[in-house]
Amino acid sequence: MTNTATDFIPRPKETHDHILILDFGSQVTQLIARRLRESGVYCEIWPFNDASRARVEAFHPRGIILSGGPCSVLDKDSPHAPDFIYEMGIPLLGICYGQQTMVQQLGGIVEAGDSREFGRAYVDVLDDQSPLLSGPWAKGAHEQVWMSHGDHVAHLPADFHVIGKSDGAPYAMIANEEKQFYGVQFHPEVVHTPHGRELYRNFTHNICGCKGDWTMKAFREEQIEKIRAQVGKGKVICGLSGGVDSSVTAILLHEAIGDQLTCIYVDTGLMRAGESDQVVQLFREHYNIPLIHEEAEDLFLGELEGVTDPETKRKIIGKLFIDVFDKCAKEVGDAEFLAQGTLYPDVIESVSFTGGPSVTIKSHHNVGGLPEKMNLKLVEPMRELFKDEVRALGRELGMPEDFIRRHPFPGPGLAIRIPGEITREKIEILRKADTIYIEEIKNAGLYDAIWQAFAVLLPVKTVGVMGDDRTYDYVCALRAVTSTDGMTADYYHFDHEFLGRVSTRIINEVRGINRVTYDITSKPPGTIEWE
Ligand code: XMP
Repeated sequence: MTNTATDFIPRPKETHDHILILDFGSQVTQLIARRLRESGVYCEIWPFNDASRARVEAFHPRGIILSGGPCSVLDKDSPHAPDFIYEMGIPLLGICYGQQTMVQQLGGIVEAGDSREFGRAYVDVLDDQSPLLSGPWAKGAHEQVWMSHGDHVAHLPADFHVIGKSDGAPYAMIANEEKQFYGVQFHPEVVHTPHGRELYRNFTHNICGCKGDWTMKAFREEQIEKIRAQVGKGKVICGLSGGVDSSVTAILLHEAIGDQLTCIYVDTGLMRAGESDQVVQLFREHYNIPLIHEEAEDLFLGELEGVTDPETKRKIIGKLFIDVFDKCAKEVGDAEFLAQGTLYPDVIESVSFTGGPSVTIKSHHNVGGLPEKMNLKLVEPMRELFKDEVRALGRELGMPEDFIRRHPFPGPGLAIRIPGEITREKIEILRKADTIYIEEIKNAGLYDAIWQAFAVLLPVKTVGVMGDDRTYDYVCALRAVTSTDGMTADYYHFDHEFLGRVSTRIINEVRGINRVTYDITSKPPGTIEWE
């Protein structure tokens, strides 16, 4: 699936300030967008080579940010920003690789360092004139930043000067105030640069003149207009997974096009205990949205029989979903569109930008797992939102709070929480363990403090003893993480008493499990799901 700038983000009304982010393939480019949105600034990310002069001018950016990237400007054929952006008379901010390409293109020199610099560093702010340097970044500040680079700037282009330096990077922050061109060697978008958001805000508000006029209310109105324009009088089907993303998508669509929308809930046999009833009830009874409840357990579990490879599982599930949706689309009377709750992290982790090698980590079933040939056109109004923004949109739409707060649940369901072969017996065991775990988390009042918690059933049996008998049963791993957007995560620090209680209950109450472990891997290097 291509990932072009034009189908990337909702087109805002002309009244919005826009910032353009040109992507050179960094894994954290989307975090730049996030930091800007937190300040109410509307922005779009375009691959660096998808930005013709005509398109950029038509977008009317108040400023352009050049992202980081994995390449070296010293390599032959390394990516560059289009030359015309230096002549547009608008402010520019280069981040890491973005700074280096800016320096090189404007006549400065970038060199390969003797050693690469990764991790925490401190920048001393040297200048008291630059509008980039206010708040925590005022002159004299000693700010923690996150570095991740091999090359560094060795000579500045004409009319640039240094406004901040670190021990490892004498050109950590540079500026050409007259042209309003800025560059930083570090990554202000990651959490390890604690005041990075303020630095971006200084750029967007002080330098580019943005007012911070992008809100969820505005997003809702724009999306409704956009959905109506895309869909016309056509019929739309929307797959509900039980998660908040597809639910918010469905409710937004219903507001936009009423009964042109039919929701489809596919019971894949891979849902959690009680999930089907809850979803059907909310949509049919509470919202009165037409809903098809498709029983497809035999189909999904049949096709997954004997499959152990995680990517194969994802691809099979993605294909089956589309087959079922295609069939339901016909039942609905030739629906032309399929609406999905695809979020930005799904897009960014599944797609390699042309020329920007952001590697594929997983094929999320609602993005990369879709077959090339699909009869339905996609409607994905939340393709550019992060999870907490989806929740904010849900509140804006008046959805019940307990539904909005639900932990994320992946499209492939329990299939990716059963490493190895999936069987009905294992699904049943996992459902029971998961129910106990979530129940205990809720009883302890911890549910809202955790981004996502779930049980995983490992394809490993171990020996135990219960009563006087030997047991030989499965191991269950518990996972709980904190996160703000699912892109990075830390494991949740439960106290041992809590973990002991859950373990005892699972082993006592779930036949088939005789050992429980707790997963203490953060993301990165782990991912949240096990597959
Ligand atoms: P990972 O495991 O990649 O997950 O760290 C990040 C977040 O995405 C969810 N996830 C998915 N959601 N379809 C979805 O709708 C998928 O295929 C999928 N895979 C992972 C995961 O639960 C976590 O919240």
